[in-house]
Amino acid sequence: MKVINFNEPSFVGNEIKNIFSLKKKRAFSSNFYFTKQCQQWLIRNIKCKEALLVHSCTAALEMCALLLNIKNGDEIIMPSYTFVSTANAFVLRGGTPVFVDIDPNTCNVDSNKIEEAITKKTKAIVVVHYAGISCDMDPILKIAKKHKLYVIEDAAHAILSSYKGKPLGSIGDLATLSFHESKNIHCGEGGALLINNKKFIKRAKIIRDKGTNRDDFNNNIVKKYRWIDYGSSYGISEINAAFLYAQLLKAKKTIKKRLKIFNLYNSLLQKLEINNVIKRPTIPTYVRPNGHIYYILVKSNKRDKFIKYLKQKKINTIFHYIPLHSSPFGKLKTTTKTTMFNTNMISNTILRLPVHSKLQNKEVMKICIAISNFLNN
Ligand SMILES: Cc1ncc(COP(=O)(O)O)c(C=O)c1O
Repeated sequence: MKVINFNEPSFVGNEIKNIFSLKKKRAFSSNFYFTKQCQQWLIRNIKCKEALLVHSCTAALEMCALLLNIKNGDEIIMPSYTFVSTANAFVLRGGTPVFVDIDPNTCNVDSNKIEEAITKKTKAIVVVHYAGISCDMDPILKIAKKHKLYVIEDAAHAILSSYKGKPLGSIGDLATLSFHESKNIHCGEGGALLINNKKFIKRAKIIRDKGTNRDDFNNNIVKKYRWIDYGSSYGISEINAAFLYAQLLKAKKTIKKRLKIFNLYNSLLQKLEINNVIKRPTIPTYVRPNGHIYYILVKSNKRDKFIKYLKQKKINTIFHYIPLHSSPFGKLKTTTKTTMFNTNMISNTILRLPVHSKLQNKEVMKICIAISNFLNN
């Protein structure tokens, strides 16, 4: 019996051809032909003002913290139900992540709970569009405007998803994407910083280029480049960018396939939700999703047994984030401003099902039958 993998990183065809073309181009480090092609693609398709390709979403988040001049004591509001990098990027600069609870329907930050967490020290709100399903951005933008806070979208999961017709990544002052192999569109390891607030563009390039004005040098604006600000080596190799460009050109097709799987799970599992045995993801009407993650919520005392049962049937499933507020380092470096009831509940009950572009309809059916058999026994 063939194993159904949780993820199979996609391979769309021209990745290796693009990499081979570098032999002629003779430019392998960062910010050459393929990096620029990828950045133009992101600007065209996400409608952000600027896009900088970097080596990970983690790098892009660290650049956000540098751009916002985060320093000791600054507070940054975000969900605890997220990947460590969302918080760590700010902790590295001395900032304190302040967690608010999530909406159990979307696993996204609960916009009704943000305002009570704001203090004089608050600098920004970081939203995470979990599973490629958008946060409810209008109320969040309204709060940010009222309190003069920056908004950062951690759109690691969310390439080509949208909110009320606006691509995710085009809404906040800054946004970040991940091209890790676990994501819809990937190059092994990669990411992007998307910029919508134009005041950050020039400095973002300096931060990406190790704190130097190398970009001005490359554009013949200065004769020598120098160290002028904070920065690090955030760029990405042309080898990764070449791989990524092939993936980006097929991104819409890849996402269409994933959405078909998402929709098939959603219809096959509807009955179990009606019978109150599981809960499926809620997709608010303002969202166009991208099929990044399909999950169900199951009873917490059954989840481990469930994962084992499915593994015996050669189906690989997985849980997700351990809330950051309850993690050893999180306990030292962060605070919570609301109860974490929904965060803990989602973390204990979520079960992510296989989604990748090689997955066949018959395999999705097999998975749904196995889920139903387990729950009805
Ligand atoms: C919400 C979120 N943000 C950031 C990241 C970090 O992405 P990367 O691995 O590209 O650094 C991840 C990784 O999965 C993530 O899930």
